[in-house]
Amino acid sequence: MDVFGRGKVILLGEHAVVYGRPALAAGIERGARARVTSQGVMELVLSPWDRVVTPGQKDELSRAFAAVIAEQPGAAPARIEIDVELPAGAGLGCSAALGVAVVRALASAAGEAPSDEEIARRALAWEKVFHGNPSGIDNTMAAHGGIAVYRRDRPLERVRPRKPLRLVIGDSGESASTRLMVESVARQREREPVKADKTLDAIAALVQNAKLAIEEGDIRALGQLMDMNQMLLGSLMLSTPALEEMCAVAREAGAVGAKLTGAGGGGCMIALVADEASGERVRGAIERTGRRAFVAEAR
Ligand code: MEV
Repeated sequence: MDVFGRGKVILLGEHAVVYGRPALAAGIERGARARVTSQGVMELVLSPWDRVVTPGQKDELSRAFAAVIAEQPGAAPARIEIDVELPAGAGLGCSAALGVAVVRALASAAGEAPSDEEIARRALAWEKVFHGNPSGIDNTMAAHGGIAVYRRDRPLERVRPRKPLRLVIGDSGESASTRLMVESVARQREREPVKADKTLDAIAALVQNAKLAIEEGDIRALGQLMDMNQMLLGSLMLSTPALEEMCAVAREAGAVGAKLTGAGGGGCMIALVADEASGERVRGAIERTGRRAFVAEAR
């Protein structure tokens, strides 16, 4: 049986969420799929990257694997094969999707079916190996999906959209390290705490308004809030010329708002569109800049 970990987009609030502010995120259809193919040997087979990982090695993947095995009560040795449909280091929660898929496969090999909360909790051990100080948003959304407001150490708050959200996700092709981008914001906050906290508070206010806009089905208001969030992320030096260009192209092609998503410094951007036709126009416009784009729906 296949088990799944979802990818995610952060609609608003990345980085601020590391400092206890709320963020709005949505699970997407693409993610990581895992399958237990035999029992007796503990190994992870990552076909897309041609890698076989065992828990006793020193590299990050092996340490992450060991960390989630330690979270599994009565872990049974299993060969787990993984397929990934997400680019790595692109802000779409690839590592968390992998972690959740592996946690679910370990649970099924041990004859267990834990809740999504418990899956997310175990997958945080995986995320900590890669990201140092993760807020927990990626592993939580990878386990739960849907649209939600996430806040560190609080129960996930589901958001019920009046209309499904249609997004175009564009990949700048530049990969970025979440750990380094989070560290860069931490350094800015050490140097200028008052200024940085004002920016994080402003992002938190946008998130609260965006939640209301989603519940009311006010796509235009949501788009404007995303544009404002992008300006604030730019002021924290998280955007890049490629991401700015893609956001501008998306807006010109009819997107109601656009911003980077995830850690920034490269990776993906998201553009909010009002309908299918403008989604296709925006996707085409981004592709004409030589980058990959696809349409995703969040509900
Ligand atoms: C990464 O998807 C989101 C960040 O806010 C980091 C985190 O929340 O752990 C940049």
